[in-house]
Parts: sequence; structure tokens; C-alpha cells
Amino acid sequence: MSTSMISSKELRQKYLDFFKTKGHEILPSASLIPENDPTVLFTTAGMHPLVPFLIGEKHPAGSRLANVQKCVRTGDIDETGDLSHLTFFEMLGNWSLGDYFKKEAIEWSWEFLASPKWLGLDKKKLAVSVFAGDKDAPKDEESAAIWKSLGVPDDRIAYLPKKNNWWGPAGQTGPCGPDTEMFYWKGLAQEFPPAGSNPENDEDNWLEIWNDVFMQYNKTKEGKFESLKQKNVDTGMGLERTLMVLNGKADVFQVDTFWPIIQKIQDITGREYIESKEVTRSMRIVADHIRTATMIIGDDRGIAPSNVDQGYIVRRLIRRAVRHGRLLGLKENFTSHIAEEVIRIFGDIYKEVARNKKFVITEMAAEETKFRDTVEQGLKEFEKLVAGFKIAFEKTGQAVKEISGKQAFKLYDTYGFPLEMTQELAAENNLTVDVTGFNDAFKKHQELSRAGAEQKFAGGLADHSEMSTKYHTATHLLQATLQKVLGPHAIQRGSNITQERLRFDFTQPQKMTAEEIKQTEDLINAAIKKDYPVSWQEMPFEKAKELGAIGLFEDKYQSLVKVYTVGDTKQKAEADPKSATYSREVCGGPHVEHIGTLGKFKIVKEEAVSAGVRRIKAILE
Ligand code: ALA
Repeated sequence: MSTSMISSKELRQKYLDFFKTKGHEILPSASLIPENDPTVLFTTAGMHPLVPFLIGEKHPAGSRLANVQKCVRTGDIDETGDLSHLTFFEMLGNWSLGDYFKKEAIEWSWEFLASPKWLGLDKKKLAVSVFAGDKDAPKDEESAAIWKSLGVPDDRIAYLPKKNNWWGPAGQTGPCGPDTEMFYWKGLAQEFPPAGSNPENDEDNWLEIWNDVFMQYNKTKEGKFESLKQKNVDTGMGLERTLMVLNGKADVFQVDTFWPIIQKIQDITGREYIESKEVTRSMRIVADHIRTATMIIGDDRGIAPSNVDQGYIVRRLIRRAVRHGRLLGLKENFTSHIAEEVIRIFGDIYKEVARNKKFVITEMAAEETKFRDTVEQGLKEFEKLVAGFKIAFEKTGQAVKEISGKQAFKLYDTYGFPLEMTQELAAENNLTVDVTGFNDAFKKHQELSRAGAEQKFAGGLADHSEMSTKYHTATHLLQATLQKVLGPHAIQRGSNITQERLRFDFTQPQKMTAEEIKQTEDLINAAIKKDYPVSWQEMPFEKAKELGAIGLFEDKYQSLVKVYTVGDTKQKAEADPKSATYSREVCGGPHVEHIGTLGKFKIVKEEAVSAGVRRIKAILE
């Protein structure tokens, strides 16, 4: 391994350069907020935006793709604070869409990791895992044989079950398959791994850095695994973890996309990162959570803190960071100062966070202020509860071990404690929380149950059902119509589709009037009555922009984009791209073929999400 340090910039560049030499087109990072996927709240891997192409649609940039993708995985939130789990991370990924398969994917992974020309990692410290096989799919002997042919010894190959070595839809339908993962020796107690050690028998000493998924199956509604016509490769390498091992760092917080944040926290608190276990953990949580919240709010589909869906996650992240800041002794607002550091680190890589800086700082500070007003009182209330339990125990000899749903709800409703924060506080006091009771109390007060949010949060792939497709097309109609009725400032800030409704957030300073709402509905229903066809064309990004297609144009797309048009036949649109259209938008699809099938469009709610952003909920009847 080389002795000089490698920066995050160099690693991103090396990765993309390497895959360019293997014929890959480079894509920009997609938004953190999935556009049309009701099953996930955030983009959790580079493959999410590629789902339509993994199941057979043609990608405009070709069959070999690579990128660096912003990812959020809230499933790891409780593990944050250890050496390597993060809620936001950057994923280096390469894809084959029915092009190369196991042999090339594995050989290139190995070449990139071990060749002195690329990362030059010590082969003696690398191990791999492959799928062990079960009733759905056989043991992946093929991948194991390829690793062996590259010189990986038998005892460094672990055979693991679906839980570890399978990527795909969590209880849903869609593309999936076995994977092979690459690990690096952490060297906590000894520099080199002993003979026989691998990720199966010595899990704690090996750090996963890269995953090559072989998407060769489609999971059907009945739970069957059918072979896909198109065999794909989907890989993901963790940037922070790889930087950590390349630079010999003890944890991911000491790489260059984190360390300045930790330093800032040290400055603000006057404490040392390595002062104690507790201080280290709290600093990691503050750094991770504010970094993630900054990236979500600063996305071009940026989400402000709120009580539902993605907004609730942002709220949870900021409030948990505030509590851990408090444990570090911080009594004044601090989150926006940390956010500024995050923006400084990422502003030239993900330009949108620099562009949306004002929105990030304003929302972050507002959320912290709101919480700070009640957090002290809430913590006192919590302490009173615990003290009450103690007194009850002394009196009756019966230990109370659980905080009731009603008590947890009071902490939530009156003092702004997210349930998960009450659970964390409870655990610190050897108590649990009656979550069912909390949910019952919550449901009485909220229109949208948290259960819905939890489900979406579990991850998985989109089920492109008919109704979702209709709502997706209706979302395009709504976006185009809002620009006609309100003006060009009315651009999308977020979108979410379920089987029952669409939800659309957009920039708009004031409440829409009853006339504006009616006009929007009328225009859309008139278009539906005309039964306009929906067609799409591939074109260079510049051309799409020139034609006035709506879309996120911040990143320079080097390749072709897909543009969906409502209002003209494909032939007409191709012959005269400027011809009259109802809606034109850059998008991956899928959409209905004729909008006459949509039924009647109705706006059921128009409300504020945050300053300058409104939300519409609409249904198709
Ligand atoms: N989608 C795969 C993962 O995230 C590569 O691990």
C-alpha cells in the first residue's frame, strides 16, 4: 500500500477514470429524494434511479455506466457513533445493463483494489464473501472460482446466506440477485489477518468496502425468483470506508469529508474528540447527523424538517444532534455553523448544496430554535418520570420498566421529542417505551400514521403498478399546469406517489387561491379529456434545456437524456420539437400512453410545508 495520503477528490476521480478505461459512461449523482418510488424515502444506493433500466428499458447513455452517488440510509441511524456506520455516504458505483457479468465485474473490482496503478491495497489484507445458496438460488460457485483464479486463497472466501449476500427488493417485486462483497482487514489487534480468518468466522475484524451484485433474478408477486432476460451488474463501494483503509485511519470520521466537521465541533465545544468514549460517540453523532440533514435539505428537491416522511427524518436527525450537542455542553444554537462546514466540504462536488445554502442555514437554525425552546423542559419532564419510577419502586417493590405510550406521546407533542429520542433516553436508563401505545395516541392526532413512513423507510424497489404510473403522469401534468397558472417560479421541490394519491411540493410564496386551485384542476381535466398521447425522445441535455423541458439541470449531463412529452404524437414532436405541447419534462418514466385513462383529477389539499414551499395532495377519481 502506498504511504502517501489519498484525498476524497482523488479517490472519486480514480474510480471514474478506471471505469472510463473499461468503456463506462459517467452519470451525475441523482437527487437524494427518489422521484417516483413510493417504497423508499431516500436514494439508498446508486441503483435506485436505474431500476427501469435494470428491468429492460434502454438507458440513453448506454449499457456500461458509473457514477458517484449521494446516498442516505436511515436504517443505520442507531449504529451511528461506531467506527464505520453513517446515515449519509457517497457510493462509487458501476453498472452493466445486460452487458458484462460476473467475470469482468470481479476482475475489474480486484484490479482497481489491488493493482499498484490504482488503489494498490495489500492483497494479504483483502477477503471476499459469496452467496452460500438456498432454495431460491444456487451457491455462487462461479464467483468463488473467479476469485480463486485471481489468487484469492480459499480461506479468505466466506460463504454467506441471503441475509448477507443478496441485494434486492425488501419484500417487494423487482430485480435482485446474489452478491459478492469485498472486505479489508481492520488490523485492530494485529497487523495481518491470521490464516483461516474471513468475514464469516471473524466478522468484527473485517470491514466491507465494496459490493458487486449480480442481478439475474426478478422477484415476482408470488415470491418466486425468475431468471431475468437481462443479466445486470450493480456495484457499490463506500467512499468513506475506502478512504479510511487507504489512509490507515481508525474510523470513517477521520477522512477528509468528515474530519473538518469534527474539528469544528472540537472548536465550538472546547473538547477533544478522543477525550472519552462518550465524547467521541456524541461528536460522531453530531457530525454524521448534521452532515446528512445538510445534504437532504440542500438537495435540489430539498426537504425541510416536518412531521411526515422525509421531513420527519430531517427533524429526527437535527433534534438528536441537538441533544448530543447538549451532552457535549452546548447551550446555544450550533447546528447551522456545522452545516456551513459541510457545505464548504461538498459545495464544489454537489453544487446544489452551495446553491441552496441559504435554505439549509435558515431551516436548520429555525428547527434548532424551535426545539431548543422546549428541550430543557422536556428533559426535566423525562427526569421527573424516571424519578417517579424510582419512588414507586421504593414504595411497592415493583419495578416499572416501561414508559407508557401516553407519556411518550406527551414528550413528543408538548416538547417535540421524536419517539426515537425518547427510546434512546429510555435505553440509557434501562427502560423501554410502549411503542404501540405511542402509535395509538399518535394516530388519534395525525392524519398520516408513522407506520406508513416506517414501511417506506424499510427500503426496497418500486413496484411500478398501474396506479403509480397514472399518478406519475398526473404529476407531470400538475407541474406543467402550476407553471401555467402560477408562473415559472412554481418548480418541484419534492414528489411522492402512492397507490392512492400524489403529493407534490413546489416553490410558491403564498397560499393558492380557490380560483387558482380550480383553474389548475380544470386545465388538467380538459387535457385529460383531449386524451393527449405521451411520448418520449432521447436527446442531448443541452437540447432538452433549449426546448424548455422541465427538469433538474444543475449538473452537466454528458450523455443523452430522456424527455417525456404530453400533447403531441411522437412523430409530430420529432418533426417539430417546438410544436405545441402540454408538458415536457426530463424523466426516466414509466408513464401511461394516453392521458385519457387517468380519470378525473382532483386537488384534495393545498398547504404550507415551510416558508416559500407549498404542498398539493391530489387524487385521480
Ligand atoms: N446496490 C448495492 C449496494 O448498495 C451495490 O450494496
